[in-house]
Amino acid sequence: MSKKPQIMLLGTGRAVPEKILTNADLERIVETSDDWIVARTGIKQRHVAEPGSALSDLVTEAARKALQDAGVSAGEIDLIVLGTVTGDMKFPATACLVQEKLGAKNAVAFDISAACSGFLYGLQVAEGLMTTSGYRRALVIGGEILTSMVNWQDRDTCVLFGDGAGAVVLGPSDGERGLLQSCLRSDGAHSGLLYNPGGGSVNPPTAENVAAQLHTIRMEGKEVFRHAVTSMTGALKQVLEQAGLTGEDLDLLIPHQANLRIIEAVAKRFKMPMEKVFVNVDRYGNTSAASIPIALDELRRSGQLKEGALVGLVTFGAGFTWAAALLRF
Ligand code: ACO
Repeated sequence: MSKKPQIMLLGTGRAVPEKILTNADLERIVETSDDWIVARTGIKQRHVAEPGSALSDLVTEAARKALQDAGVSAGEIDLIVLGTVTGDMKFPATACLVQEKLGAKNAVAFDISAACSGFLYGLQVAEGLMTTSGYRRALVIGGEILTSMVNWQDRDTCVLFGDGAGAVVLGPSDGERGLLQSCLRSDGAHSGLLYNPGGGSVNPPTAENVAAQLHTIRMEGKEVFRHAVTSMTGALKQVLEQAGLTGEDLDLLIPHQANLRIIEAVAKRFKMPMEKVFVNVDRYGNTSAASIPIALDELRRSGQLKEGALVGLVTFGAGFTWAAALLRF
């Protein structure tokens, strides 16, 4: 049976760069077509940051909106957890830069590196700290400027990604609403199927390594696709079983927005009609850790998250990492 929720969402916010890159724009950059991209991924456009933009600015904007939505001041925040692999710099943690921009003087702030799973990892880490360390108000954020590590000559990857940030404010549960179940998984055996080889200790940013494009994303798309479907299905099944529920009990599924075909394949395994599955990959592309909190904010602000609704969240990303959660609204 489902445990009593300890934490719940008090507010949400999102921010995306103004500039939109359409599939037609990409047709002018690499040998691709709108038809191919839509048929293979469901993506029609993505928001892209100007080169040199600070992720912390995008994240701060999303966080400010979430604080306003929650009616919570920055000074009341005890914890800031940011899921990202495209922070402003190698260090300090971008969460610390966001803390300063928000004026959240009382918060402990750190980043989580779990790629597309960063937000759900952050949610569970925040739940743990809030229940054991007495933190009462937390900001959990997913934010990425993935286009800063895209190789615009590689059509296999450059059509997939977009930039954005989504944030939630968490507080103690009222006993009914909030995080019912969650699970986190990882398997480093597949780290070589999706990675960014450059800029770290193995391939420091020398002129030679940059010229070899080692600072950009490498991916075996077909293999990632296969693992994503299997792992997301397994994680969602696990949290449903732990709660004594099935896919039919879900009012809504919010899957990580990487590829419409991955989303449809997962939904099919739970016999979920697509009307109950949230999709915005067509408008944003894959925004990695930002995709689920952006979706939560879109749904909440458009009034689609009704009180009492049971929502499943599920994700998969580099590492490999994957995760699922059940939320009662
Ligand atoms: N435009 C036109 N043709 C293309 C493009 C493109 N942008 N990209 C690849 N192709 C070509 C390939 O070269 C290949 O041509 P060939 O048959 O002559 O060799 C053909 O299209 C088919 O390529 P595949 O890689 O087999 O295409 P597939 O159906 O697997 O789709 C895709 C590729 C979209 C990358 C898919 O594998 C995928 O989405 N994988 C998941 C990857 C992902 O989402 N990663 C993000 C991070 S992890 C996560 O968030 C889940």
